[in-house]
Amino acid sequence: MEIITDISSLRARLKRESSIAFVPTMGGLHEGHMSLVRLAQQKSNCVVASIFVNPLQFAPTDGFDQYPRTLANDCEQLQHQNTDVVFAPDDNSLYPVRQEFMLEPPQVANILEGEFRPGFFRGVATVVLKLFNIVQPHVAVFGKKDYQQLHIMRELVQQFNLPLEVVAGETVRTPDKLALSSRNHYLSEEERVEAVQLYQALSQIKHEIEDGNRNFHALEERAKENLRNRGWKPDYIAVQQGDTLLPALSNNEDKVILGAAWLGKTRLIDNLEVTL
Ligand code: PAF
Repeated sequence: MEIITDISSLRARLKRESSIAFVPTMGGLHEGHMSLVRLAQQKSNCVVASIFVNPLQFAPTDGFDQYPRTLANDCEQLQHQNTDVVFAPDDNSLYPVRQEFMLEPPQVANILEGEFRPGFFRGVATVVLKLFNIVQPHVAVFGKKDYQQLHIMRELVQQFNLPLEVVAGETVRTPDKLALSSRNHYLSEEERVEAVQLYQALSQIKHEIEDGNRNFHALEERAKENLRNRGWKPDYIAVQQGDTLLPALSNNEDKVILGAAWLGKTRLIDNLEVTL
């Protein structure tokens, strides 16, 4: 595995590759990321993973400085997974001048995560487009854990005619069904036990929809109330259309239930697809 930190060396290294599968990350890697790498390996002989904590997607209160930087451990895991190249640029390599051109994402970026993290998807879309231009992958792998991000990445690729395929990786969960996330490390022992209740809340809504309940608003409100009663602060619990991510319609199209909620000082997100 090669660890490359500057753009020209990366371009020189990747010149000889006829196909590249790319896994963009911000580090803090765990088994969820490794499953994305394994998916990438099914798509190409050359897998590039990037590790870059992107300042553009952090609001001033979002904890950019506190974000876990675990490069040595991340590289160890990627090496173990037989990743071919790690691209780990510093801020100066990726943003040698102030990034004034920004990508304006579509309206769907202003709901759900976008409502609570204004500017987040602008920052994500801008850095991902830069990374795509640098790595020039044929395939890019994103996890379903960040469902809205995956959706916006698909739109980015389609609307800008980028010559690459977006591949979605399933969410990896612990045996008690907590979605793996770098943020799980912030949870106390007690919170870690409680954390699975977000999944449980989404799961209950999923079962009710499968049983024919179409009163999505009531389902969302009840789930939020239940979480509040357990000490959570929900940002949103929302039943949306699977293909557009807009609020769900009362028909039998596929849906996705998305949730974000604070448990103590940790904000967790999760989602469940409902195929009808
Ligand atoms: O999902 C992430 O880790 C980040 O949002 C991404 C896609 C690497 C862009 O910084």
